[in-house]
Amino acid sequence: MALRLRGEILSRSFRFKAIAIAAACAAIAFASMKDPEMGQATAATASRRAESMGPASARQAYEANCAVCHGAQGDGNGPAAAMFITRPRDFRTGVFKFRSTPSGSLPTDDDLVWTITHGLRWTAMIARPELSDAERRAVVQYIKTFSSRFADEKPALPIHVPRRPERNSKLIAEGERLFRDTDCASCHGERGRGDGPAAANMKDDWGWSIKPGDLSWRPLKRGSALEQIYLTIATGMSGTPMPAFGEALEPQQIWALTYYLESLVPDDRRLPPRRLLGEEQQGRMALHMGGMMGRQGFR
Ligand code: HEC
Ligand code: HEC
Repeated sequence: MALRLRGEILSRSFRFKAIAIAAACAAIAFASMKDPEMGQATAATASRRAESMGPASARQAYEANCAVCHGAQGDGNGPAAAMFITRPRDFRTGVFKFRSTPSGSLPTDDDLVWTITHGLRWTAMIARPELSDAERRAVVQYIKTFSSRFADEKPALPIHVPRRPERNSKLIAEGERLFRDTDCASCHGERGRGDGPAAANMKDDWGWSIKPGDLSWRPLKRGSALEQIYLTIATGMSGTPMPAFGEALEPQQIWALTYYLESLVPDDRRLPPRRLLGEEQQGRMALHMGGMMGRQGFR
């Protein structure tokens, strides 16, 4: 995935966004010349705002931290959105990929906070652990206003992830069999590299091209923790072709698949946690741009 993905990013950047990126770099360089402690200042402002956040400051927090990608109206079409192959979510549909709840359900508030805290690796949705807890909870309440689903429905109960069993070769062999029999391979390919026969020309519910991830790298979008991989398999990724298997499979079988997927990862594809991957660098840049525009009243 990395090589192919990088290739795409480069060619796209050159085709569409070289100018925007160059301008962003210049702007960032200029700003850090003027204000070398920009990073710390932003963090300090964040914690000062932490104590109490009414709806007005929730909107401000969203506009300063999210709107550059997700759009002031939550339509996924902020000023930076076109820079990315994996587009920012359009929140108006109330459909979310990353949940602890069963397929079709809304995510819980904690799910949304999790996404903001940890980010979605390889994508522009970078982790924001530096935002205060109050700020993360406030932007979560704010993004929920973009879809009437949140006013009309309650999220279902989260799926319980049972304790991981001991890793053993029987479990991995069972996972390998399930990977074939439940048709994971048709999308993800025999060895999980994202090259199955059904992988071509996929689209997500928002109309963007999408690929089944290459599962032989860690982290995946949702990180490297086995419990997160378990959740992906159990809950599916709503809005994408990735089905949910929480009903069809027993917990023990989902663990078997999880361990089988781990067995497909060569050591040199386990990347150090702090390395920037895929579109994360561009995501940071866009966030910086948006933050600076935010200071001047970006909408
Ligand atoms: C630099 C661009 C960028 C910024 C800034 C950004 N996001 Fe995202 N966000 C994305 C992208 C791209 C995705 C889609 C990832 C995917 O579909 O795999 C995403 C996905 C998400 C998701 C997951 C939706 C799902 O389907 O489960 C949530 C929730 C989210 N963003 C919330 C936020 C919030 C809240 C903020 C502000 C604190 C924010 N984002 C800032 C780019 C951004
Ligand atoms: C119909 C096609 C399809 C089938 C069948 C399928 N997947 Fe997926 N899967 C996808 C797509 C597409 C994505 C990428 C979605 C995205 O990144 O937005 C994905 C992503 C994933 C991810 C990565 C999540 C992350 O955090 O990046 C895992 C793990 C996964 N699938 C496991 C499985 C397993 C295990 C099976 C079989 C039990 C399976 N998939 C069956 C299409 C499929």
